[in-house]
Amino acid sequence: MSNCKVCGVELNSENKYMEGMCWDCKFGGHEEYMKDRDWTGNKKSTFVTLGASSHCDHDRAENDFYSTDPKALEIFLDKLKEDGVELNHYVWECACGNGALSEVLINRGHDVWSTDLVDRGYGLPDYNFLTCERLPFGKYDNIKWDILTNPPYKYAQEFVEHAINLVNDGSYVVMFLKIQFLEGKERRKLFDKYPPKYVYVNSARQICYLNGDTSKKMSSATCYCWYIWEKGWKGDPIIRWI
Ligand SMILES: C[S@@+](CC[C@H](N)C(=O)[O-])C[C@H]1O[C@@H](n2cnc3c(N)ncnc32)[C@H](O)[C@@H]1O
Repeated sequence: MSNCKVCGVELNSENKYMEGMCWDCKFGGHEEYMKDRDWTGNKKSTFVTLGASSHCDHDRAENDFYSTDPKALEIFLDKLKEDGVELNHYVWECACGNGALSEVLINRGHDVWSTDLVDRGYGLPDYNFLTCERLPFGKYDNIKWDILTNPPYKYAQEFVEHAINLVNDGSYVVMFLKIQFLEGKERRKLFDKYPPKYVYVNSARQICYLNGDTSKKMSSATCYCWYIWEKGWKGDPIIRWI
């Protein structure tokens, strides 16, 4: 029996990616987390706790492409319904990847605008969300629309801020982000300015597929949450568990 050289977990047929490494450390996306961390702390303990690794470039998804398991959105939308929170009919999936989230929304009757920086064979490609100043599909001054996505992790905060700037008062910005997004000095400033109205924590681990490849068996050491901002709302966020 061998152990993962990064986090030390005992390797078995379920969690083993290759000799000496588990799936979590291979695909957990912790490299970005370590690079972007803006807190101080004990690096060793963080490595052990989070299973952080020093992935090299070829390990990384192209442009941070991890497609979200549609089930993660399904169960979240069910919970939202139970809680009486209703998204607007029009939703912009502004980093749509291969449409994993867009398709769920469409199947539930939403009109969805899908865009991505990269052409992944779905939606409108070559659309850089971070530099855009308006909706890509014409003027929609008279209708209400929300933004929902799982953004590239490296630019998660930028996506949140830009999305809040773009949506109209009272509209929602919904982001699928790691639970660690709650911590950090820069995030603190963001939350002071824009507190999320709700944070839905996934009790069960949800999966994001590297480069959209659902054939690869993935496990995840990452706890994801759905963060919901309602533009203009101020107060103490409500935490819910899915
Ligand atoms: C983590 S993946 C998520 C894909 C999809 N939202 C999902 O949940 O399945 C992030 C996506 O963001 C896209 N992306 C990266 N930078 C972007 C940018 N500046 N503007 C728009 N999309 C971007 C990537 O191409 C990738 O498809």
